Amino acid sequence: MDVARIRADFPILRRSFHGHPLVYLDSAATSQKPTAVLDAEGQFYSEHNANVHRGVYALSVEATDAYEGARERVARFLHAEDASEVIFVRGTTEALNLVATSLGESVLHRGDRVVTTVMEHHSNIVPWQMLRESKGIALDFVDIDVDGRLRMEDLERCLSQKPKVVTVSHASNVLGTVNPVREIADRAHAAGALVVVDAAQSAPHRPIDVRGLGADLLAFSGHKTLGPMGIGVLWGRRQLLARMPPAMGGGEMIREVHQDRVEYREAPARFEAGTPNVGGAIALSAALDYLEHIGWEEIADHERTLLDYSAQQARERFGERLRIYGPPESRDRQGIQAFALEGVHPHDVATLLDADGIAVRAGHHCCQPLMERLGIPALTRSSPYIYNDQSDIDRLYDGLEKVAKLFA
Ligand SMILES: Cc1ncc(COP(=O)(O)O)c(C=O)c1O
Repeated sequence: MDVARIRADFPILRRSFHGHPLVYLDSAATSQKPTAVLDAEGQFYSEHNANVHRGVYALSVEATDAYEGARERVARFLHAEDASEVIFVRGTTEALNLVATSLGESVLHRGDRVVTTVMEHHSNIVPWQMLRESKGIALDFVDIDVDGRLRMEDLERCLSQKPKVVTVSHASNVLGTVNPVREIADRAHAAGALVVVDAAQSAPHRPIDVRGLGADLLAFSGHKTLGPMGIGVLWGRRQLLARMPPAMGGGEMIREVHQDRVEYREAPARFEAGTPNVGGAIALSAALDYLEHIGWEEIADHERTLLDYSAQQARERFGERLRIYGPPESRDRQGIQAFALEGVHPHDVATLLDADGIAVRAGHHCCQPLMERLGIPALTRSSPYIYNDQSDIDRLYDGLEKVAKLFA
């Protein structure tokens, strides 16, 4: 993979901070955007902007075609059966809230159980906690082992209580763990549960096969996948979407409205009330083109090389003084590395690295239940992507050596 060529496509990477060229290692929070994506969004607004599904005039037809074309593009990326299974939303958070609200009005009743995991992002915990408050459902958490993998025997314990829904992240935004979603889905289905997958961290790194994974519903965010902020996707099995009520009402999602009754349209329209983020959807489609053009195999190989190099640097330079959380083998995980540097608070680590132009994140990473489970308040996280190379990892560890020296 030609990282230098890729980097040239990302104008923001030319910036410097505090006199140092930017080393951006926070792609799990949001990825940077290549010119192709920025241009696709700009071109929509400068040449094709009109509201979709409403006008008979040529410009509106153009906008509608481009929007529906983006839906088809996403459907191909997800290996969906049909583009009507793709719902555009703001991001993973909105998708998971939509799912919880809609299932809360249909499938889930007082006393029913939902299974999530301790490694989930707050966006795959809080919507279910809100249902616990409003509908009286019960929420169970699957535990992890010492290496940060889900404990399958604990999943069995949860499944023995016959939950209606099992919801799990494809990849953890802290541990980097890639969960065995297919196996989880098979077991959950055998127990009679629906399977919801949070693919926010996996979609940027691998093509998603919704059917291969055995998902019933799956969410991801455009902005972590080279796309713009404010666009994301909820995919759902067609037969299931047909049974799910809308979570939001308004224009575009109705077939008929009268004073005394309302009739909703089929999916995806039923779940897309109001004017959608058309420019965002088109730019997301350009982002998927860009990633596919590089090649998923190349992206995975590059990520593994950086991960192994980073782990080796950590070992050689710090030994026991730097602990990386999550599975030790790179084949079970993604490139995210959340770590603790002995004797230094993660916020100090991130602040001092920033002084050298290195952008990493510190905190609980929207995973407070996981932090509690690990018995730590916070971690520093490095999350490289396609535009990072070994020199960025070198700068990270050079910076960390300076931090360690300062606190020694
Ligand atoms: C695993 C995971 N799920 C969900 C989200 C929420 O995504 P968004 O903020 O784009 O809605 C994130 C974002 O960090 C995440 O890492």
